[in-house]
Amino acid sequence: QAAGADMPIVLKSPADIDKMRASGLVVARAHALARSLIRPGVSTGEIDAAVHELIVDAGGYPSFLGYHGYPRSICASVNEQIVHGIPGDRVLVEGDIISIDIGVKLDGFHADAAVTHAVGEISEEKRALIEATEGAFWAGYHEVREGRRMGDVSHAIQTYAETRGYGVILGYGGHGIGRSMHEDPHVSNAGAPGSGTLLRPGMTFAIEPMLCIGPPDAIELDDGWTVVVASGQPAAHFEHTVAVAGEEALILTAAVEPVV
Ligand code: MF3
Ligand code: CO
Repeated sequence: QAAGADMPIVLKSPADIDKMRASGLVVARAHALARSLIRPGVSTGEIDAAVHELIVDAGGYPSFLGYHGYPRSICASVNEQIVHGIPGDRVLVEGDIISIDIGVKLDGFHADAAVTHAVGEISEEKRALIEATEGAFWAGYHEVREGRRMGDVSHAIQTYAETRGYGVILGYGGHGIGRSMHEDPHVSNAGAPGSGTLLRPGMTFAIEPMLCIGPPDAIELDDGWTVVVASGQPAAHFEHTVAVAGEEALILTAAVEPVV
């Protein structure tokens, strides 16, 4: 989901990045809560309701709620659902995988992260898919530093996934983030090294690879949101919000406090 084609990339000050980290800590706490609720028998709507309450209690607002009419506070995408699954009455069963995607706005700034969980015991095939999706994120993350280009990040994600035999979902991807949930630049999950936006300190963006088993053809369901793998094979998603900070990248959605 790229922002407008000709919007300038907004560089964040250290104070802005501190605010995004505060938003990101609420995202991390919300993910810890969601994770604690995942088991056979729970509905995706119950997870959404609990996360909504945590975010509001923390003084934040769920970034997705009302975004282009999106009706819930999180996205919950099960099995062949890739992204933007709408929580509801669906009850998780042993062997499912579920991608939880959470965004929080706090003090004017958004942060956004996603992870795919196992529900009870899952197949070895699904476990490997989840691990490869997280690995693809880290492959991209390790390219994030001053002087690299976004194409280096995209290429690293694509190469990591494809050399392991996974499909890379295109048409959806990462994005700049800050005072808006979606800003420029777009962060594609495929690309050419040395191409695209030059990375500079103060850039903040979400990196979010989506991998699937089999051909990476995606279709949107009639609900207007849920994106699924056309073949019906499973997909996984992993996302953090990061900031370029010289020779390294900061992860703004990682927990650095105990969840109590
Ligand atoms: N992480 C997703 C994204 O960046 C979640 C958006 S869900 C929506 O697009 F409901 F807000 F669209
Ligand atoms: Co995102």
